[in-house]
Amino acid sequence: MTRTVFVLTGAGISAESGLGTFRDRDGVWARFDPMRLATPEGFAADPVLVHEFYNHRRRDARAAAPNPAHAALARLEAGLAARGGRLFLCTQNIDDLHERAGSRHVVHMHGEVLRARCTACGTETVWHEDLGVETPCPHCGRRETMRPDVVWFGEMPKQLDVIDEALAEADLFVAVGTSGAVYPAAGNVAQARAFGIPTLALTLEAADNAGLFEATRLGRASETVPAFVDEVLSAKV
Ligand code: APR
Repeated sequence: MTRTVFVLTGAGISAESGLGTFRDRDGVWARFDPMRLATPEGFAADPVLVHEFYNHRRRDARAAAPNPAHAALARLEAGLAARGGRLFLCTQNIDDLHERAGSRHVVHMHGEVLRARCTACGTETVWHEDLGVETPCPHCGRRETMRPDVVWFGEMPKQLDVIDEALAEADLFVAVGTSGAVYPAAGNVAQARAFGIPTLALTLEAADNAGLFEATRLGRASETVPAFVDEVLSAKV
């Protein structure tokens, strides 16, 4: 049976790679103020502080390694394609662990910390080094215009039209390692249900929108995701 599976991932899938989640007890937002570090207003008020915060996150992302959950989703993408099916992988994460695990098609709805954007000319560039106020745009040369190519609170997530189209075509919706606290991603499960699509959550603790999922499997992503992928590829799901 050809499958079109929509998988939404959050910080929980990268937790076992050593990258912090946001809302767990010792999460990033328990230690830092998102209004100062993850909003356009915060960046305008103190760009040096915000650059420093994302430089740390970029270095951590580069030092991290994909875990078995990332590898399993890359295996799912290849396995479904071999059957004429499709995996639509949408992540809220700004790291590149899905790509480094072998996933070839990843939609980063909250952008990528390993890319930078010039607010003057709009050029987006792959960026692995530290970024600062004085960093000149590699395209237009202006200074004080470069920012991490990530989506902050109050900004429009990326590729929402592509995401909505993929949801309409899916025959299974799975959320991995996300608290369901941030929209529009947190609303995907309701959209899937409205389309009559079966829904499954794979997470360590029940998400804020847990009641909307038909099934929830609690556990570490590095265990639950490979088991799920085995089931799909052996056509038990
Ligand atoms: N395996 C599976 N799930 C895990 C694991 C793990 N090892 N560790 C934590 N989790 C789960 C938690 O139970 C929680 O439900 O991952 C989820 C992490 O939730 P958040 O920290 O809120 O992360 P996320 O849902 O991705 O946040 C969404 O908020 O701040 C913004 O832009 C940021 O993309 C982020 C968005």
